[in-house]
Amino acid sequence: MLVNGKHYKTIWIDKGGKIKTIDQNLLPFKFKILTLDSSEDVITAIKNMTVRGAPVIGVAGAYGIYLAIKEGIIKGYRGKELDSYTIKVSKKILSTRPTAINLKYSVERTLEAYYFTELPEQKLLNVLNTANQLLKTEEEASYKIGINGLRIIKNLFNKKKHKELNILTHCNAGWLACIDYGTALAPIYLAKTEGIKMHIWIEETRPRNQGARLTAWELLHNGIKHTIITDNAGGYVMQKGLVDMVIVGSDRTTINGDVCNKIGTYKTALAAFDNKIPFYVALPISSFDLKINNALKEIPIEERNSDEVKFIEGYNKGINKVLITPQKSKAKNFGFDITPARLVTALITDKGIIRPDKKQIEKILL
Ligand code: MRU
Repeated sequence: MLVNGKHYKTIWIDKGGKIKTIDQNLLPFKFKILTLDSSEDVITAIKNMTVRGAPVIGVAGAYGIYLAIKEGIIKGYRGKELDSYTIKVSKKILSTRPTAINLKYSVERTLEAYYFTELPEQKLLNVLNTANQLLKTEEEASYKIGINGLRIIKNLFNKKKHKELNILTHCNAGWLACIDYGTALAPIYLAKTEGIKMHIWIEETRPRNQGARLTAWELLHNGIKHTIITDNAGGYVMQKGLVDMVIVGSDRTTINGDVCNKIGTYKTALAAFDNKIPFYVALPISSFDLKINNALKEIPIEERNSDEVKFIEGYNKGINKVLITPQKSKAKNFGFDITPARLVTALITDKGIIRPDKKQIEKILL
């Protein structure tokens, strides 16, 4: 998508073979491109959320394994020695962010490619090809999600007799969280190209404010009208009739259609349900986890440092943090929550729009 009129993706390989990404921790204040030179760079970038969002952390993880094999070869490792170094780094990559299933999906695909051949140089090439393929697949999936979601937006727009549509979203499920287009934002970007009049409500998404910082920045650069509201205001704008549909992303969706997404999604879904507003979840098939039956019990919910709750980050002659709670008070920082399938109108996937139930999910995945 566009940044100052120039097209960017979230992660790419430059002409010199270097892995490049955008430092999301500096947005919206500064646009900085970073090079991920080592597997440790990738691990740090995913952990501290320089790179964030389910599909893109999956792809970054795959490049991390590629860099690890390169490091192993430079150290002179071959055979078992190279295997154990690669596995050690893969485990570290997997542990960076436990909730989004995309990371596990990518690491597994990448390791399959690693074990497919014998020679270290072949392994390296295989893994690089797989990482590149994962990137391409995620980008294409986002575009397809956009095409499928566009049908819903068009229908609503026609129903509203071409009056401006109000769409509410939570967190950042845009191109920054994917490779391009996004999940929740992909249909919105495509609707813009069709001339559909839209206004987007963005919930700020405390504690890290991915909505206020990243979604707002993306939409601003791509010319889409939007307003930032506090997380607590979502229900009120719905009650006032100011929301036609809600669309969010997902970090992991179960076989039963229960959706794990950024903390606060559940409350937004409850408010949408109470106000009879359609609540859509947009996700690529890499975000399904067919092994989970009970989302609340089985999905590992990331708990981040409580300082992200106790301090707020903003810009004043540079990016600064200020304490907003009593220093000695305890805080908890849950990263994600579970929205039960009964609150979800439909899942917008790259394989079509489906009801959030086992039969429909199995039909597109198996
Ligand atoms: O903690 P984050 O910023 O990585 O969480 C991101 C989200 O929760 C997104 O909604 C999710 O990754 C799905 S959209 C691509």
